[in-house]
Amino acid sequence: MLSTLPAQPADALLALIKLHNDDPRTDKIDLGVGVYRTGQGDTPVFGAIKAAEKKLVETQDSKAYLGPEGDMGFVHALMPYVFGKDDPAMGGRIDGMQTPGGTGGVRLAVALARKAGVQRIWMGLPSWPNHAQIFADLGVELKGFTHAGQDGAVDMDALRAAVAAAQPGDAILLHGCCHNPTGIDYTPADWDEIAALIAAKGLLPILDLAYQGLGQGMEEDAYGVRKVLAAVPEALVAYSCDKNFGMYRDRVGAVYVMVQDPAQLGAVLSNGYTLARAAWSMPPDHGAAAVRLILEDEALTRMWLDELDTMRARMNQVRAKLAGAGKAGSVDLAALGHQNGLFSVLPLSAEQILALRNDHGIYMAGSGRINIAGLTAHNIDKFIADLAAVSAPVTA
Ligand code: LMR
Repeated sequence: MLSTLPAQPADALLALIKLHNDDPRTDKIDLGVGVYRTGQGDTPVFGAIKAAEKKLVETQDSKAYLGPEGDMGFVHALMPYVFGKDDPAMGGRIDGMQTPGGTGGVRLAVALARKAGVQRIWMGLPSWPNHAQIFADLGVELKGFTHAGQDGAVDMDALRAAVAAAQPGDAILLHGCCHNPTGIDYTPADWDEIAALIAAKGLLPILDLAYQGLGQGMEEDAYGVRKVLAAVPEALVAYSCDKNFGMYRDRVGAVYVMVQDPAQLGAVLSNGYTLARAAWSMPPDHGAAAVRLILEDEALTRMWLDELDTMRARMNQVRAKLAGAGKAGSVDLAALGHQNGLFSVLPLSAEQILALRNDHGIYMAGSGRINIAGLTAHNIDKFIADLAAVSAPVTA
């Protein structure tokens, strides 16, 4: 039976990691998978995480099972950052559970929506390719609309039309900040309108917050989530600590559920526990425990937030430098200056993307997405020059 299974293509984004690693060229540039890199091109473990891990090794006295909900100290310690310090549980309407990374959070959010009767999820495209893959795997129909126009701004008309066409009881998935892949985020005024539209239509919002703190700041990046949650009776939020704590391979995430009546919360979460038990039983503990130790300790929290500020400042510097370069061949880099987070999309053809890889050792996703953090003072001029070379308009 197994031999009847047709081969599947490798995940295009993850395949880039290996392709880049296997490339012997010393001046190659990795702009593929979304990991932060320093000005030296490294992805180091955060100092705050190292300190927390040391503390964890010294103090952890058991590795006995926790349960499908994982480390609830971790889940609760994050809540003031996501939902605001004043009333993070919104009067007992919000609680969550730990998941294996942000992907686990999205997976569980969509599975819960599906179990509650959602059949269609509306989502701006392009999006992180795994979103559509998760929907398909769970048997939910994707209804796509254009996320951003050619002018590099959010296409609010497309979103308005999508919400108008949606049925009450459909869900809508929105990136909380640092849109992946475009880097083009909603403004606070856009969020105000979106929250009202979703509420009026009776859609279930699924908010994917995978890059909090990498856009404008921890508070600023939570604006959309808080605004939407204030407007609607029910919502799901998938959260990732993989980027803002640098915990990628340790898979640190959570899913939060907001219900209308606090009395309903336990029943909804019990569905999350059942789904998790059947899928992964319980999430890996180590990374979440380290994040919890940071958030429980004022000095470690300060250290973590400082590290996050440094990352954001570096990405802003790279964006400013790209924007300052203006046009590289036919590609206008100016818009990248006011986009957010790790990613932006360059309007390149498949041939141009391949030429950058084959002829210049520059690796980016097939969508033209680049990881801004892959650019450093050492390679950015080469990148701009090579981009100009492959995209230069052909002159007679
Ligand atoms: C990315 O988009 O590069 C990251 O979210 C990593 C991943 O899991 O795809």
